[in-house]
Amino acid sequence: MCEQDFIPGEFQKSVQSGKVTWQSPSNIALVKYWGKKKNQIPANPSVSFTLKNCKTITTMEFQKKEIKGEDFDFELFFEGKKKDDFKPKITRFFERIEKYTPFLKDYELVIQTENTFPHSSGIASSASGMSALALCVMSLEKELNPEITEDYFLKKASFLARLGSGSACRSIEGELIEWGEHKTTAGSSDLFGIKYPNKVLEVFKSYQDTILLVDKGQKQVSSTLGHNLMHGHSFAEARFEQAHANLEKLQAVFETGNLPEFIKIVESEALTLHAMMMSSEPYFILMKPNTLEIINRIWGFRESTGVPVCFTLDAGANVHVLYPKRHKEEVLEFIKNELVAYCEKGQYICDSIGKGAEKL
Ligand code: DP6
Repeated sequence: MCEQDFIPGEFQKSVQSGKVTWQSPSNIALVKYWGKKKNQIPANPSVSFTLKNCKTITTMEFQKKEIKGEDFDFELFFEGKKKDDFKPKITRFFERIEKYTPFLKDYELVIQTENTFPHSSGIASSASGMSALALCVMSLEKELNPEITEDYFLKKASFLARLGSGSACRSIEGELIEWGEHKTTAGSSDLFGIKYPNKVLEVFKSYQDTILLVDKGQKQVSSTLGHNLMHGHSFAEARFEQAHANLEKLQAVFETGNLPEFIKIVESEALTLHAMMMSSEPYFILMKPNTLEIINRIWGFRESTGVPVCFTLDAGANVHVLYPKRHKEEVLEFIKNELVAYCEKGQYICDSIGKGAEKL
């Protein structure tokens, strides 16, 4: 599919008003997206586990205007309170998707949104938030054109979500989602995420992700800024090639269940992501001393017990602890005994692999 396929023709139906609610999860990348080209095209392919508990719930009410306006007309409420400082981000999103959703300016929208995870937990809400909103917009399109297929609906939702925030395109479905053209993944695309199409052993479909909240503060450097620093980065090309190679290696791992190899790839991806930040111009560090403490303790625990637990990081100080479900009890015990002390206010979130967004 190409970009043109997402530009709709004339709609058959006229819709006066309505209301739709979607809940959409966050996701955690195993091979990281870091670096992008124009129009939110990723510099390399990535693959992620869709999460289950960390999600955004968004309701969009729409009312047809008497006359089509020049501007996007919407009110935004976050956790029940009017939130005008989120509006510029949403306006930018609507501007980016306007070509594909020309009907948006015909409606007055009221958007109500909330997260299941604590606000300012340092968990990126852009993936769950943008995917939930993209799905609401697609539900409106579906009312205007009931003919669209389920497959088109999901692909376009992912396509629109990507324009809001790259990683958001991996939050529409579960359990494993790949985004970005990759030579050994049939159907992979830079435009939207796809359900990982090759063989995946059961062990990966019930993986656990315990998110240790190391630093709940505002990030010093946004992801968008970080992505931009990959332009002209001395190691960029080598990094992009490495991501392709790691994805290929992971394909074999998903098929065979080779957990030591899984751990090697996933941890290397996390550290490479942060190494890219530390070697960009200007350089920056998002890890905190407690991030390193936790990593070292995970390594110690793995070494002494043989439990195949590993970590990954996103663009922040929090640590995602990944492990197979059958080791849940002992890993949670280890987290409580040894790692909670390094979390801000002792907070952590227990999550696991999920099946994607749901209409409520
Ligand atoms: C480190 O999707 O937040 O989490 O496209 O600018 O919104 P924008 O960036 P974003 O970047 C996420 C980067 C990452 C890695 C990943 O999720 O693959």
